[in-house]
Parts: sequence; C-alpha cells; structure tokens
Amino acid sequence: MEDRMISSEIQEVDTSIELSLRPTTLKQYIGQHKAKNNLSIFIEAAKLRDEPLDHVLLYGPPGLGKTTLASIIANEMGVQFRTTSGPAIERAGDLAAILSSLEAGDVLFIDEIHRLPRAVEEILYPAMEDFCLDIVIGSGSSARSVRLELPPFTLVGATTRAGLLSAPLRDRFGVLSRLEFYETKDLCSIVERTSEIFDVIIKKDAATEIARRSRGTPRIANRLLKRVRDISQVKGEPEVNLETTQHALEMLQVDPAGLDHIDHKLLLGIMDGFNGGPVGLDTIAATIGEESQTIEDVYEPFLLQKGFIQRTPRGRLVTHKAYEHFNREVPEA
Ligand SMILES: Nc1ncnc2c1ncn2[C@@H]1O[C@H](COP(=O)(O)OP(=O)(O)O)[C@@H](O)[C@H]1O
Ligand SMILES: [Mg+2]
Repeated sequence: MEDRMISSEIQEVDTSIELSLRPTTLKQYIGQHKAKNNLSIFIEAAKLRDEPLDHVLLYGPPGLGKTTLASIIANEMGVQFRTTSGPAIERAGDLAAILSSLEAGDVLFIDEIHRLPRAVEEILYPAMEDFCLDIVIGSGSSARSVRLELPPFTLVGATTRAGLLSAPLRDRFGVLSRLEFYETKDLCSIVERTSEIFDVIIKKDAATEIARRSRGTPRIANRLLKRVRDISQVKGEPEVNLETTQHALEMLQVDPAGLDHIDHKLLLGIMDGFNGGPVGLDTIAATIGEESQTIEDVYEPFLLQKGFIQRTPRGRLVTHKAYEHFNREVPEA
C-alpha cells in the first residue's frame, strides 16, 4: 500500500516531529472535552486519595491522540510513564518482567492492546485486579504456582479496535474513554499551536483550511501543515497564507473535503462503473485494483463516517453527498 498524505497511520515523516509536538498537560491537550473532563476528575480524585489512578482504556481511530493522552495521564499523576505494545510482548514472561519492574503508582501504557496474545493477556487479569503475578515454577509433577505481589500501578491501554478486546480484559478497566474525530475549530487550534512550535506565522484562514482538510485527525493536520510550511518557505513568504495553502494542498492531492486520489478512485469507480451502486466490496476491489481488506480497513471508514458512502446489505452505495461533492447529477434509480 502506498503512503497516503492523508493516512492517519503514523509515517516516517511524523516520528521526527511528533515528539516535540506532544502536549504534556491536560490543559494543552486540545478538544476531546468529554474524555478530558472525565479523566481530570478521576485524576484529581486519585491524587486526593493518594492512590494510583484506575486502569484506563483509550479507544478510537489512529492519530487522534491516544498515546499523547496516556503520557499526559502519567505526567498529571506525577509518575513514571512506561510504554510497550501488544505485538511487542510475545510471551507471558516478557510481560511478567515488565510488571515486576514497575514502581508504585507508575503508568504502564500498552499500545494496540487488542493484539496481546491470549496467554499474555491472562497474566494481566490478576495484575490489574489484585496487583499480583501468578507464576508457575518448575514443570511436570514438581510444578507449583507462586504468587508475587506487585506495586499498585495504572494500566493505560490503547486500541483502534475496541471490539476486538476480550470481555474479561475490557471489564477490568475502570475508565473507558472513546476519542472522537476533532471538530474543525479544535483542529485549527492544533494547527496554530503547532505553527508556534515550528516558529512560523500562519493566517487564521490558512489554518482553518488545513484543519478542514485533515479528516478530523491531529496527526494529519500536523503533517499537512509541515508540507504547506515547506512550500510557503521556499516561496519566501513571511507568513503562511490561504492562497499558498490551497495551492499546496492541491499539489498534495488533498481536496477541500480531505479526500485524496484514492478516495476519488473509489467513489468515481462506483459512480461510473456501477451507476452509484449498491455493489459488492470484492467487485469494487477488483475494479480499482485494491485489496478488499484494505478498502474496508483503511479507505472506507472516513468515507462512511462523512456520509460519502453507505453500507447496505447489497453492497456499497455512493450517496447524494458524494455526487454533490463531484458536482454531478444523481442518476435515476
Ligand atoms: N488533543 C491534542 N492536542 C494537540 N495535539 C494533539 C492532540 N492529539 C493529538 N495531537 C498530536 O497528534 C499527534 C498524534 O497523536 P498520537 O497520540 O500519537 O495519536 P494516536 O496514539 O491516537 O495514534 C501527536 O504527535 C500530537 O502532537
Ligand atoms: Mg499511538
């Protein structure tokens, strides 16, 4: 799969800048008011009781700020932030080693927690519930189980696929926070904040334009801003203006709704080839030369969320909104 300018998955260009852009306090964390208010109450209460925070599960699409929020939680609690991820932990022993190295109150962040192997996950249950580890020493008839005490800690799990989490794991989180796509005004504030860190001046209408084309996702907003800034600087402009921004985004093939050439190929493919649908996923995939799975996991979610396509029992249907977007007449049924 090619790198898309508007992919919400982390890319190489992001890793170098994201660290410096990460807000470190809840106050700096823009938007997500529901999750933020919720967390700030729990954090304050835990601090008053002088106890670690309840385990927190953060879920939502990539690039919305799960990792950022996890590190803010540790910072606000004034404790160490330890991170790992589901796919990185292969054996139960790996997790046991991490858990037994924690200090009282620490935040352990497990990214992509839905990808923890089942045998590893089972170690987590007593660790989350009773702060202890059950380990088996020896084998065969001499095997015996030993219970090790752990310091109280907070597990923060992040996942893009909450539905894939097993019920026993999900039930052990005291706080469940779902992150939502950002409103344009919040993304605009993020673009302005990032510009300040980049030390560039950006006009309000230019910042809003980037925000509008960023698919509700801070990671995309920051990436687009970086490219727009580069183009503006090469042109020797003292500040980033709307005209250059629109021009740059066109060059990057990101249209006013945040759709790129792959979205166009998909939507126009259904309009031109199948009179707008409904058409089965596999047929679309074959027509535009992409994998069905990729369409379903990567291309479709934003188009569905924004109402450009609909899922029906008979396949995918392009909506009136999509026809309007391309300035086309809706065909007769
Ligand atoms: N609420 C926010 N306010 C400001 N910047 C944010 C916010 N959420 C995310 N970001 C920025 O977006 C980038 C991606 O966020 P990240 O936490 O890595 O997302 P996720 O873990 O959900 O994929 C971060 O580098 C951060 O700079
Ligand atoms: Mg992350």
